[in-house]
Amino acid sequence: MNKFKSRLIILFFVIILTMFVVSCSNTQYKNNGERIYFTATSSSGKSIFSQGSTMMQGNISCVDCHGADGHGGNVNIMMDSFEAPNITWTALTGSHEDHVPFTETTIKDAITKGIDPSGQELESYMPIWQMADEDLNDLIGFLKTLK
Ligand code: HEC
Repeated sequence: MNKFKSRLIILFFVIILTMFVVSCSNTQYKNNGERIYFTATSSSGKSIFSQGSTMMQGNISCVDCHGADGHGGNVNIMMDSFEAPNITWTALTGSHEDHVPFTETTIKDAITKGIDPSGQELESYMPIWQMADEDLNDLIGFLKTLK
């Protein structure tokens, strides 16, 4: 009986552990914008491409350079090292040295055309992204939540 009990307890923990591992690997994003930011894939199944950077583009997404909180910082990828800017909404729409503050339209231009509000090309580390308008709007919606 005691043996049976301890087996039951072990079984119980194995089940809990399995559920924990499954829930971790199957991360659910709150919305499509967050999913794009973290995985560069859309819930709609529409493709999201990135190009222009010298690095392997395979499955790179915003989070890899700008960080989970959007604060950016030093990035080390593919034996290269560079600074990624803070892209929280307050930072983007706040004052910048080289150009006027970003607006929703110019943030979209930065993402899809690789230019800043003065029309200047961004450093090539920032990929140029192609995605459906709905996806871009969802992504902007997510950037608005970054503090
Ligand atoms: C490989 C690294 C990398 C990835 C991935 C990346 N970025 Fe960037 N991003 C940068 C760098 C570096 C800059 C700064 C470019 C410059 O200052 O010329 C930048 C600039 C920006 C800017 C303009 C901010 C500013 O102050 O100039 C926005 C907005 C932005 N990124 C959004 C995104 C979004 C959204 C994604 C995902 C769809 C993304 N980035 C993915 C590296 C990256």
